[in-house]
Amino acid sequence: MAAKAQVYVAKKSELPVGGRRIVEAAGKSIGVFNTGAQIVAVLNLCPHEFAPVCKGQLGGTTLPSKPGEFIWGRENEILRCPWHGWEFDLHTGECLTDRRKLRRFPVVLREDAVYVEV
Ligand code: FES
Repeated sequence: MAAKAQVYVAKKSELPVGGRRIVEAAGKSIGVFNTGAQIVAVLNLCPHEFAPVCKGQLGGTTLPSKPGEFIWGRENEILRCPWHGWEFDLHTGECLTDRRKLRRFPVVLREDAVYVEV
């Protein structure tokens, strides 16, 4: 098995909460996001019909609540595909409405920099 490479993404200060970078690494387009809770990296390819999902809107979602209540939360953790609107949980890669998932990559934080491992 080939050794994994760590590809530089940005300085931590260049990736504020809600920020993103899309980088090319090992022939793949990868989106790196700061959700506030984590810095995550996912393949820039929607599992539905292969849109560049990382160019989609970053936001939140409604949380479990009582009937008639609508509670918004998880801001900056939900990525919405720009083509058909499927929503993905960046912390797990899971789609909120389907079994297909985003492919995730490890993120390495070293000194003041963010790297993605591919
Ligand atoms: S291609 Fe992403 S939701 Fe259809």
